[in-house]
Amino acid sequence: MKETGVVPVFFHADLDTCKNVVKACYDGGIRVFEFVNRGDFAHEIFSELNKYALKELPGMILGAGSLVEAGTTALYIQAGANFIVSPLLNEEMAKTCNRRGVAWSPGCGTISEISKAQELGAEIVKLFPASEIGGPSFVKAVKGPMPWTNIMPTGGVDTSEANLKGWFNAGVTCVGMGSNLFPKEIMDSGNYAALTDKVKVLMETIQK
Ligand code: 3PG
Repeated sequence: MKETGVVPVFFHADLDTCKNVVKACYDGGIRVFEFVNRGDFAHEIFSELNKYALKELPGMILGAGSLVEAGTTALYIQAGANFIVSPLLNEEMAKTCNRRGVAWSPGCGTISEISKAQELGAEIVKLFPASEIGGPSFVKAVKGPMPWTNIMPTGGVDTSEANLKGWFNAGVTCVGMGSNLFPKEIMDSGNYAALTDKVKVLMETIQK
C-alpha cells in the first residue's frame, strides 16, 4: 500500500471482467488491489481472482474490502486475502486478522477511533468516507498529535492532480479509489488498455 500509493477498490460479479481489471491495474504499475465484498457470490469470485493473480501476475497483492464482521473476514482470509479493509471499526474482525497474521485496515472517522484501531493492531487506517468527514484538513489535524498515524483516505478520492496533491501534502500514506478509477465509460466499453493508460497517468501523478 505504501509503495504503490493507491489501492484500487473494485467489485464486479463477472470473473473475467475482474481478471481484466486487475491485469489492467497491474500493467499500469499497481501491485495492490482491494476486491470488495459487494455481491452474493463475491467470496467465490475473490477466491478465483486470487488464484489467477498468484499464477499470472507475480507480485500482485490482493485483499478484500467492505467487510463488516469477523465471520466473512475469516472466509476471505481462507480464500487467500492478504489484507482486509473495512468501512468500520470492529474488534472481533481485528482479533480474526491478528490471529491469522493478516494486515487489517479498519474504517475510522474520529481521532478516538483511529487510536483504538492502532491499539487493536492496525498499521494503516482507512479514513472513511474521507471527503465527507473533513478531507485533507482532517488528516492534517490528526497527524498533529499522532504523527505516526498511517492514513488511507477512501470515498470521493479522485485521479486529478489537485485532489491527490491535497491528500498527499496532508500526509496520507496512500489513497483508496473506486468509482473515479473505474469510470462507467471504460467499464461499459471493456477498453482495458484505456484503464492501463489511466493507471499509468495516476501512478505518475502520485509519484510526482
Ligand atoms: C469504498 O468502499 O471504500 C468506497 O466505496 C470507495 O469509494 P469511491 O468509489 O468514492 O472511491
